[in-house]
Amino acid sequence: MSTETLDLGTVGCWTKRHLLGLEDLSAEEITLVLDKAEVFRKALDAGQRRFPLLGGKTCVNLFFEDSTRTRTSFGLAARRLGADMVDFSAATSSLSKGETVIDTAKNLQAMKIDVAIVRHRTPGTPHLLAQNLHCSVINAGDGAHEHPTQGLLDILTIRQRCGRVAGLTVALVGDIFHSRTARSNIWGLKKLGAHVIVCGPSTLVSPRWQELGVEVSYDLDAILPRVDVLNLLRIQFERQATRPFPSVREYVLLYAMDGRRLAQTKKDILILAPGPINRGVEVTPEVADGPHSAILDQVTNGVAVRMAVLWLLTQATRTG
Ligand code: NCD
Repeated sequence: MSTETLDLGTVGCWTKRHLLGLEDLSAEEITLVLDKAEVFRKALDAGQRRFPLLGGKTCVNLFFEDSTRTRTSFGLAARRLGADMVDFSAATSSLSKGETVIDTAKNLQAMKIDVAIVRHRTPGTPHLLAQNLHCSVINAGDGAHEHPTQGLLDILTIRQRCGRVAGLTVALVGDIFHSRTARSNIWGLKKLGAHVIVCGPSTLVSPRWQELGVEVSYDLDAILPRVDVLNLLRIQFERQATRPFPSVREYVLLYAMDGRRLAQTKKDILILAPGPINRGVEVTPEVADGPHSAILDQVTNGVAVRMAVLWLLTQATRTG
């Protein structure tokens, strides 16, 4: 398959220069990204690896926090589109000499960068860089705020596996408090008409989440029979100053998705997890590796979604 046979169409309603969060996107814009990602996914499944659509463009992975899937898939997406890709490593940079994040980014921009893909532990860092740089900025995770491409790839996987998003009941289970994936899922899923439940221990799920238009539950067993999709969020031990539950064993008893709980769900339940997973904590191996799990399919969709985002951001008529 050549790019001539790749039926991407036009950028449609897309005018954005940056992708900072799903809160900022309309249902139409989200659907547009999903549609373009589906075209890339089909071509990738058909064996195509080279799509010379971004020749002459340069992207930089500006990661100030660890990453496996997001960083690698942005790198692959950019290279498969024919762009140059530079990987910046915070650990070996001049940040250790006191350089600020903005100065670091401005210096990289001076090397003629077109797209900066930013992950930082402080919420709002990609937004700050978007205000200070001329290039496009993609939020690859800012603290517990947003992770828009993760939300998009989760929603694409749901749409492909369930055939729709509107009308589905999607439960986000686990460490909602620290999860940027949860926030991006909520914005995106709600805009596309899904019913969203957030479920976990009360120390990790505040009743105030209802203000975002979601249902709050502390009882996984009670909601299981009525959910179509379970998105199992990792307990982010590294972000917790105090222990949110007495022991991991207690969390497992109340919230781990295992074979016994699977038997209480709808027979075509879809199991998602953004990864990395704590095996035996949020999900047992028999469920994570079982027939209902789309966890690795999400990773494949991650490359397609990031190709679609890079393509849209670099093609669009820029407005903001
Ligand atoms: C998530 C992240 O880093 O926000 N992972 C990811 O990007 N695939 C979720 C997590 O770390 O648990």
